[in-house]
Amino acid sequence: MSDSGIPQEGGNKIPKGWLVFFFAMIAFVVWYIVSFTPAISGWSFYKVYEEEMKAGDKLAKSAVSNPGKYIGDSKAIAEGKAEFATSCAACHMADASGGIGPNLKGTLKYGSTPDNIQESISKGRPNGMPPFDQQLGKERTSKIVAFLASLRP
Ligand code: HEC
Repeated sequence: MSDSGIPQEGGNKIPKGWLVFFFAMIAFVVWYIVSFTPAISGWSFYKVYEEEMKAGDKLAKSAVSNPGKYIGDSKAIAEGKAEFATSCAACHMADASGGIGPNLKGTLKYGSTPDNIQESISKGRPNGMPPFDQQLGKERTSKIVAFLASLRP
């Protein structure tokens, strides 16, 4: 058959690297199908989605809407105390016992949960309590909330 003198296809060996790549691709495809087929591995897009949403929720909560997060944290309480001395002591006294503003160690008119106190500080109160949201931001306000909580029995 090959008497033409021209080398025929049968004489060409497939390069080894190509073969390795070829079988690696097949192995990858098998692995991929097995691990991402819900019926085989239990993997599910919905599970991944739910987990990510949960993680996101947690992050958002701790960052924004949990003014009580520093309660009991002694480093944050010390920072809150210093901030209180700077911004609040003029009216409430350094120990929060009250002056122009009310005593903050007793019963509070506007409530004494972390959320109530955060609101009193951030938005202010009608009879002379200025709003501090712009000046302090959420982080420092939460530390002051922790400081005030540490003054209560
Ligand atoms: C200019 C004086 C002044 C400064 C400064 C001030 N306060 Fe007040 N604060 C008041 C007055 C007056 C009230 C009472 C408001 C009312 O009864 O409506 C008050 C009320 C409050 C209340 C609510 C008390 C309650 O009975 O519910 C909290 C909490 C509070 N202040 C915390 C702070 C903190 C924390 C700071 C510092 C970031 C601060 N205040 C700075 C004057 C001040």
